[in-house]
Amino acid sequence: MSEPRTTFMTGATGFLGAFLVRDLLRRGRRLILMLREPVDESMGRLRQSLEALGADLGAAEASGQLRVVSGSLPDRLPQRLDGPVDDLLSNAASLQLFENGNQEPYRTNVEGTRCLIDWCRGHNVRRTHCVSTAYVCGSITQHVDEVFHHPRPQFKTAYEQSKWMAETLLAEWGREPGHVLTVYRPSFLVGDSASGYTCQYGGFYQLARMVSLLKTRYGADDNGHSTHIPLRIPGRPEDPQNFVPVDFAARIITEVMEDESLQGRIYHLTDPNPPTNDQIKRHMEVYFRMHGGWFAPVDEVLNHCTPAESLLWEHYDVLTPRVTHNPRFMQGNTRRVMSLRGIPFPSLDDRLFATLLDFAIAHRWGQRSRGQGGRAGNAQRHASSLSKSGQPSIPAT
Ligand SMILES: NC(=O)c1ccc[n+]([C@@H]2O[C@H](COP(=O)([O-])OP(=O)(O)OC[C@H]3O[C@@H](n4cnc5c(N)ncnc54)[C@H](OP(=O)(O)O)[C@@H]3O)[C@@H](O)[C@H]2O)c1
Repeated sequence: MSEPRTTFMTGATGFLGAFLVRDLLRRGRRLILMLREPVDESMGRLRQSLEALGADLGAAEASGQLRVVSGSLPDRLPQRLDGPVDDLLSNAASLQLFENGNQEPYRTNVEGTRCLIDWCRGHNVRRTHCVSTAYVCGSITQHVDEVFHHPRPQFKTAYEQSKWMAETLLAEWGREPGHVLTVYRPSFLVGDSASGYTCQYGGFYQLARMVSLLKTRYGADDNGHSTHIPLRIPGRPEDPQNFVPVDFAARIITEVMEDESLQGRIYHLTDPNPPTNDQIKRHMEVYFRMHGGWFAPVDEVLNHCTPAESLLWEHYDVLTPRVTHNPRFMQGNTRRVMSLRGIPFPSLDDRLFATLLDFAIAHRWGQRSRGQGGRAGNAQRHASSLSKSGQPSIPAT
């Protein structure tokens, strides 16, 4: 039997990171996780996430399959590691959408990538797996291929631009002899397709949360079982929205990392048959037992909202980077892995919709439980801030 490979990984404590740690450990891979200080606190959060996913890190820690080193991007990468590293899994990122004076998202995503590349050179690491985003396509709307996008597209957010810049740096490294670069581009991550588990509550969840508020406000007893709420929905019914369950993304990345013949490509981790706005509306209607909405031009709705509409669309601007941008992602490479390994895409049907929203509601849309200590965990960082500041933010994708 061949010796298990060793991966140096960033971003293990994040949403996708926990699923990757779980799946890679199950496949026998040795992991060296770079965690931010205080490392005990980071490790505590990771253990909690893994427990929620039904995995226990104890055995992997005890056997040395899992090791932890302290570090952060861009400038605190560990220089000395015991033993060789076969590949890098670059998963950490700042998901801050716009610049706000703290140098993010460029500091982590671009400078961090530059330093990781130097680190790979210094440690003779020649295989790199990088988690990017499908939205490095920027303004490209039609068929978005699994290729590097040049010339540089127009971007709606600093985050998308920073991820494109990171890809560009890596692509240069990947062109050097002996280097193998594999890039994974998820669209918008939603919870686990089996349990609904999530620690991020933006975008898709924010919209659902606003719809639930609408139902609460207008769902009086005399309104009948399915509440009739006549309101306009800004957008076109036929436009697709792309969501990808986090477990699917982790599964494809793990499969590719396990098979060198699949590496050196770009993978769009996206829904092959993304639901349209109209389908999402129907799922919402079934789940929240309501009806009465119809689609109308964005400007027409936003400029003259009824009270019911404004409850929903007051925060429409935070959803617009995705709602008004509907690229169609090609995914020949991903489909090949799905067909080779018999992996179906967990489509967003009524059942999955209910699984995701049941979990989110049971966890109060990610609001932090009282008494939870340590640095703000991912659940809190990604929770909608609607109730706190009235200025919600959507997580980047
Ligand atoms: N979420 C989505 O919908 C989505 C969609 C497409 C692509 N992606 C990509 O998928 C990857 C994982 O995203 P995610 O949603 O799992 O993110 P996440 O939950 O926000 O986790 C981010 C991870 O990166 C780490 N990190 C952030 N800044 C760092 C720094 N300066 N130095 C070292 N570590 C740092 C965080 O560590 P701490 O725990 O210490 O903060 C955490 O482990 C990212 O590359 C992201 O761009 C995400």
